[in-house]
Amino acid sequence: MAKLTRFGIAMEEALLRDFDREIRRKGYTNRSEAFRDLVRESLVKVEWASNREVAGVISMVYDHHHRELVARLLDIQHGSHGVIVATQHIHMDHHNCLEVIVTKGKAGDIQHLAERLKAARGVKHVNVNMATVGRGLM
Ligand code: NI
Repeated sequence: MAKLTRFGIAMEEALLRDFDREIRRKGYTNRSEAFRDLVRESLVKVEWASNREVAGVISMVYDHHHRELVARLLDIQHGSHGVIVATQHIHMDHHNCLEVIVTKGKAGDIQHLAERLKAARGVKHVNVNMATVGRGLM
């Protein structure tokens, strides 16, 4: 484990009370780990905002009966700069498919892929879960 440095933080009492209540509810046993997680979360947002190499999970729901949609979605995925690591397809009911697309690559390429999938007619919902490759994150 890396060397830990202690430092003090000044904060309004009411804000700290709300923070303590929230982290207790989430199951943290001390403020330090909760604070470290907040820092990590913000660093992952920076990775995405500065177009670094990241990991991401795109979920997509669509009706596979929509004319030519499946071919269109495949074309988009094949033209996605190799960011797709794996996909899983779940037939949810007679009409609806859920596709989970695991990606790794430039944040901008992953966002672009998600936007193109979302813009395809017949796609009902697309979400990008912004994750990290973990490198450089303690
Ligand atoms: Ni299906």
